[in-house]
Amino acid sequence: MPRTVGICTGGGDAPGLNAVIRAFVKHGVRDHGLQVLGIEDSFNGLFASPPAVRELDLVSCQGLLHRGGTVLGTTNRGDPFAFPMPDGSRPDRAGELARNARALGMEGIVVIGGDGTQRIGLRLMEEHGIKVVGVPKTIDNDLAATDMTFGFQTAVDIATDALDRLHTTAESHDRVMFLEVMGRDAGHIALHCGIAGGADVILLPEIPYDPKRVAAKVAARSSLGRSFTLVVVAEGALPKGCEELPAPERKQRLKRGGGAAAVAMAQLDGLVSAEMRHVILGHVQRGGSPVPADRILATRFGVAAAQLVMQERWGEMVALRNGEVVGVPLTEACSSMHFVDPAGPYVATARAVGVELGAPAPDAAG
Ligand code: F6P
Repeated sequence: MPRTVGICTGGGDAPGLNAVIRAFVKHGVRDHGLQVLGIEDSFNGLFASPPAVRELDLVSCQGLLHRGGTVLGTTNRGDPFAFPMPDGSRPDRAGELARNARALGMEGIVVIGGDGTQRIGLRLMEEHGIKVVGVPKTIDNDLAATDMTFGFQTAVDIATDALDRLHTTAESHDRVMFLEVMGRDAGHIALHCGIAGGADVILLPEIPYDPKRVAAKVAARSSLGRSFTLVVVAEGALPKGCEELPAPERKQRLKRGGGAAAVAMAQLDGLVSAEMRHVILGHVQRGGSPVPADRILATRFGVAAAQLVMQERWGEMVALRNGEVVGVPLTEACSSMHFVDPAGPYVATARAVGVELGAPAPDAAG
């Protein structure tokens, strides 16, 4: 009898999810004789009748390496502990999920997802005995347990390309152009694409900005004959004075203002004379093929996840640490986030080439 495991993808998609699934199946099925059942739409497939679950074999994984999205589907609206029902109620259906997984012969589930999905996996294990191996996923690269997540480098690549394109039109029209990129809580995408794309200003959730400093940067460029400015704005960036707001209120404020780039543009109204335009890159950053570096990382994660299953190291998540892919306790994976360090090397590099971050360097701030 082969050992049977489920596999699902939860939360927002990220380029490289299919590459993880493919690598897990290739190594697990071909080299270890596992039977792999793909669960559709995060954990939700286990609630369907009949279950929305299908066997993933070597043939069904052909051609997946370069494909964006996830062939299993995903959702961030299916917490089994507070499951959204059509009547608006949110019952705890985790016990039902565990029974259904066992009825399908699943020994455990490989959960590919961000911190929220991993937390659900951990609870399923602790409260219902569902064995779980985790694979971290987020284009934001904000999980402290792993040095890198797949999808991040693709997002940076797409955002850098957008910035290159905005560069030529900004220059032609003498405009201040704002590019809003993803990163609700952590500004890694903004910082990296800003450095790679030669942004003049980078605004991050971790550094509340002073609009006057941004305006001063625009004026300084203009006095040097550079009559256009490129501003990268992470979607969670807010002006000074909002940093103490609780997270839901910060989000509301951004929504009301029409998004972080629109808010930043409004803040500069009256402070700069140049025309201003903004672009929200949005989900374009998550779509399409993963870049080679993400395909490689995703493949390493998929192989490592199959090895954790074979070694019955349930309760662990694969992670990149100093170049090695290792298993770390899921508890650790769920416990802390990785934010941009305002005093760290990437911010320092940006400052060293004259990028304005909207606030003085920490040491200069006193
Ligand atoms: O968590 C990853 C992320 O890309 C965030 O940066 C962004 O705020 C969010 O997903 C958007 O998710 P959704 O697809 O629900 O709009």
